[in-house]
Amino acid sequence: MFLRKIRQLKFEKDSNYVTRVLILSFPSALVFVLLVALQLLTPYWALLSYVWVMIFNMLFLLPFSFELMQVKMYIKNLAQGKSENAEDMALSDAEAREIAEAVNSMHRFWAYKVDELEAQAISDTAVLDTLPDPILMIDRTGLITGANLSARKLLGEDVTKRNVEQIFPYNHFINALNRILNQESEAENLSFYLHSDPDKKMYAHIKALPWFSKGRAVAVISLYDISKSVTVEKMQADFVANASHELRTPLSVISGFIETLQTTAKDDENARHDFLNIMADQAEYMSSLIENLLSLSKIEMQLHERPVEKTDVVKIVSETAEALEFKAKSRKMKVKVQAASQIPLIPADGAQLRQLFQNLLDNALKYGLGGSTVQVKISVVPNMPASKTETALQGKAVSVAVHNQGSKIKPEDISRLTERFYRIQEHKDLNIKGTGLGLSIAKQIVRRHQGNLTVTSTNTRGTTFTVYLPLEVS
Ligand SMILES: Nc1ncnc2c1ncn2[C@@H]1O[C@H](COP(=O)(O)OP(=O)(O)O)[C@@H](O)[C@H]1O
Ligand SMILES: [Mg+2]
Repeated sequence: MFLRKIRQLKFEKDSNYVTRVLILSFPSALVFVLLVALQLLTPYWALLSYVWVMIFNMLFLLPFSFELMQVKMYIKNLAQGKSENAEDMALSDAEAREIAEAVNSMHRFWAYKVDELEAQAISDTAVLDTLPDPILMIDRTGLITGANLSARKLLGEDVTKRNVEQIFPYNHFINALNRILNQESEAENLSFYLHSDPDKKMYAHIKALPWFSKGRAVAVISLYDISKSVTVEKMQADFVANASHELRTPLSVISGFIETLQTTAKDDENARHDFLNIMADQAEYMSSLIENLLSLSKIEMQLHERPVEKTDVVKIVSETAEALEFKAKSRKMKVKVQAASQIPLIPADGAQLRQLFQNLLDNALKYGLGGSTVQVKISVVPNMPASKTETALQGKAVSVAVHNQGSKIKPEDISRLTERFYRIQEHKDLNIKGTGLGLSIAKQIVRRHQGNLTVTSTNTRGTTFTVYLPLEVS
């Protein structure tokens, strides 16, 4: 058994073996020298006996040395990550066995710890990767030691090999970072425009990690894309500015006339009559402006509420057309509604659809050719055309096309028609009344219904606004 083991073992030269034999034999050598000196033993017998002692020690130490060597190789293999089993060595020496077992249990403990740490690291990375905002970890020198998925997407896969100052070379960023790294501050907040994408405004929160935290990261940078909210803020500010401007114009007209009536035209009967008419017109315009603004904000508040009520589009369109008959007559126009058979009911907000078609028909009657007929065609289409708004659904839809004759709307105007307060200059010059909010309201109603609104306009065929409303909403 022992010999077989020796053969199996890839022997390394055990330099300590010879030393151990010599040290063990040293006291016997002294005894033999003493015996020779006292002439109790001849040098020949002393030498012979010493050789025997050496042979005995050699044989005595060999198994022990062999086992030590086995243990040594076993530890070496473990250190190199090879899986080894201490029992396979069949150690006969109790102490060697104990050493091997101690090493074995230490190895098992560390292997378990490593597994645990690995699992923890994997789950931490997975959690960080699910976060929608970019997160960076940095060390004491400002080097990025970790980045979650959205940070890598924003700043590139190689972001972890770079210094954070290279990526955000903005003075106020670097100063804030240095305050954190020099332990002068716990947290810093700032915003900046990305130099790689100047439209992107980012908000950064830099937070120092507790200094006793182990590992290399000493601070975490969380980034938030605030471009959208900046745009929304700007839109809101623009909207308020536009709305106040639109309201101020009729108001100043009214105040002007009041002043004239109080002073120069005080006793002019005719002027008073004309001025009061103008003032009434302006007051009416103001009230429709306010009404439109209120309904726009109401629709926007409901934008994400899905309409569920089953609604009859054909009925709503026909009733709206009838209600506008008087207006049509005033321009010697007619409205003709044609519906394909069996138009299904759709989930929709009836009151909003009424408002939508009222706006489109009102426009067709206002801006269409006097004396012509406005054609409304209702049908079901198998596929709603794709829309730029992310809310539009695909698939079957009810389509309502409102067509009027009249001059072509220029492409540059078409792209801006649904902007708030946008009106074509020609119509403003012709003094056609309007607030410029009707189509923005129409667009928002269509958005809420996950539908689509398209416009085509040519010189020969006139203008068609088509509303697509999905048969089912999601
Ligand atoms: N059917 C149409 N034909 C030609 N131009 C139109 C038509 N509908 C709308 N427009 C243009 O689009 C502008 C915006 O329409 P809208 O938002 O309804 O505002 P309003 O009708 O109050 O002016 C109108 O001022 C007009 O210039
Ligand atoms: Mg209008």
